[in-house]
Amino acid sequence: MKTRIAVLVSGGGTNLQALIDAQGRGELPDGEIVLVISNNPDAYALTRAERAGIRTAVCAKPGMEGKIIEALRENDIQMIVLAGFMAILSKDFVSLYPDRIINIHPSLIPSFCGAGFYGLRVHEAALRYGVKVTGATVHYVNEIPDGGKIICQKAVEIQDGDTPEILQRRVMEQAEWKLLPKAAEIVAKRIAESK
Ligand code: GRF
Repeated sequence: MKTRIAVLVSGGGTNLQALIDAQGRGELPDGEIVLVISNNPDAYALTRAERAGIRTAVCAKPGMEGKIIEALRENDIQMIVLAGFMAILSKDFVSLYPDRIINIHPSLIPSFCGAGFYGLRVHEAALRYGVKVTGATVHYVNEIPDGGKIICQKAVEIQDGDTPEILQRRVMEQAEWKLLPKAAEIVAKRIAESK
């Protein structure tokens, strides 16, 4: 039985698209994306999900977590992927899905991560510090922002003339869109085999 996956999003959804495309190529054999949840009704990621024929739900404040939990239970979700989801999940929420929630972060954790490090800010900090290599990380989610056990990482070189926007795009293309489908299959397989 395939692991039933929900993807939580807030924005453009390029990482969601990478998961959908990987599933289409047969690279997610042990998992199936059956639900996309956004806490932002205007997220373009919702359009990507609808085009792929995946059920969607908008779960926004107030009561965001309660609405998400209800949608997850209604759809019998077994694994959650945070793909550009711009909210910190509570300890109570995370404890409902131990080692079943993963997140993609656009740096080589423990560098440039934690509270306040999201989106372009991560790349601004990397350029400001002057590191020569950055990258992306997929990790399990616990109650500490970006603090869970690392599943996989990929390094990306910083080039002369990089702006935060240029660097963000290259980290997505060279690291994020490759890492997230790979990590999702690793975890989906573990959950499927544990049934
Ligand atoms: C990505 O860089 C991801 O690592 C970060 O937020 C960004 C979301 O991009 N958490 P998208 O919505 O998947 O295009």
